[in-house]
Amino acid sequence: MKPTTFAIRGAVCFSTAPEKLTCFENAFVICQNGRTVGVFPQLPAQFDGIPVRDVGEQLVIPGMNDLHLHAPQYAFHGMYMDLELLEWLNQVTFPEEARYRDLSYARKAYSIFAEDLQKSATTRACIFATLHVEATELLMDLMENTGLRTYIGKVNMDRNGTAELQEESAAVSTKDTIRWINDTAEKYENVKPILTPRFTPSCTDALMHALAELQKTYGLPVQSHLSENQSEIAWVHELCPNTSFYGEAYDQFGLFGGINCPTIMAHCVYSSDAEISLMKKRGVFIAHCPQSNTNLSSGIAPARRYLDEGLRIGLGTDIAGGHSLSMLRAIADAIQVSKLRWRLVDDSLKPLSLEEAFYMATMGGGAFFGNVGTFMENYEFDALILDDSILRHPQPLTARERLERLIYLSDDRCITGKYVSGNKIF
Ligand code: GUN
Ligand code: FE
Repeated sequence: MKPTTFAIRGAVCFSTAPEKLTCFENAFVICQNGRTVGVFPQLPAQFDGIPVRDVGEQLVIPGMNDLHLHAPQYAFHGMYMDLELLEWLNQVTFPEEARYRDLSYARKAYSIFAEDLQKSATTRACIFATLHVEATELLMDLMENTGLRTYIGKVNMDRNGTAELQEESAAVSTKDTIRWINDTAEKYENVKPILTPRFTPSCTDALMHALAELQKTYGLPVQSHLSENQSEIAWVHELCPNTSFYGEAYDQFGLFGGINCPTIMAHCVYSSDAEISLMKKRGVFIAHCPQSNTNLSSGIAPARRYLDEGLRIGLGTDIAGGHSLSMLRAIADAIQVSKLRWRLVDDSLKPLSLEEAFYMATMGGGAFFGNVGTFMENYEFDALILDDSILRHPQPLTARERLERLIYLSDDRCITGKYVSGNKIF
């Protein structure tokens, strides 16, 4: 029988607050029935005899929560980086996403995505698929088998697409969405559907209305894009002359957070004071995607402001605006762009510290999934085991120094173990 209580012994690091990273050079993290009991320098007497995975010098940290990425775009990650958002969508992204009408292509591409995500530092993720129901369900089947916990969205888009990538009407989009929800809402242990209006320019008012109805009926969470690029924002302003800021284009339909509508908005690079205060009021999660914002020349989101003002914020890779699936790299990117913003844009917003960026990738994003993202008592046990022995160094280093080096220098070869909600992935 599978043991329900076990420990991992190694060097342990985890956040307890945005600016607080707790590190033990050598400790036991105990998991019981999928949840963390705590971190102990010695195994407490009442846990004598439980199975212990002793990982020696290796680091044990909470899993990474990727709040925003596009599975179909993994096929072109690391390519076509010389465009800004709207040209990139039309010239690169929409033609590639149109291929997912073909299930055999979808199977090939999504199998690679699922395998690579399973090997990565990510334990939980919020994922955009495409508008195609069959391919989205295939992606959900594949992701279920990885053991990672994910929300996956069939994308809604009934305007401003291309001949090959656009739904026929709001009615067809709604009907397909209902079919997809009915097929998937109860089907999986690890995967759940999330409503996914692509962004305001892609969705008519009629479609937004219908999605808001579905949101209430089925109680699903919502994910979309917000205030990513200046041309996009100007376009939304033209499309929605009745609104005074972009976020209102979602809020007017009831698709912008609130107690019964958990919502993630990706980017928030240019959010106005009014938009920021509405996000705070509604508890909207911000997915900060520094690598994508750099590649698409979008800008630099004021992550420090969001953190300091108590907004909910996590990190996203935004594959394939971002080129790397690695959430460890996203931590380094968040720190780097915050330094450029501080130096070049606004010296009142200090750069993010390692502690803060690590917090965003673990506890910040983890809060979208419940009690997730740290080794404090009763949090779901999501863990990574990291081996830094290939990153040779002439001196002994502390656990915190080793964690920082892994964030900047590691690749998937360093990830030697992974657990999600107490289940061993490898
Ligand atoms: N806005 C609308 N669609 C997309 C997308 O696929 N990627 C990014 N980064 N922004 C978007
Ligand atoms: Fe995106």
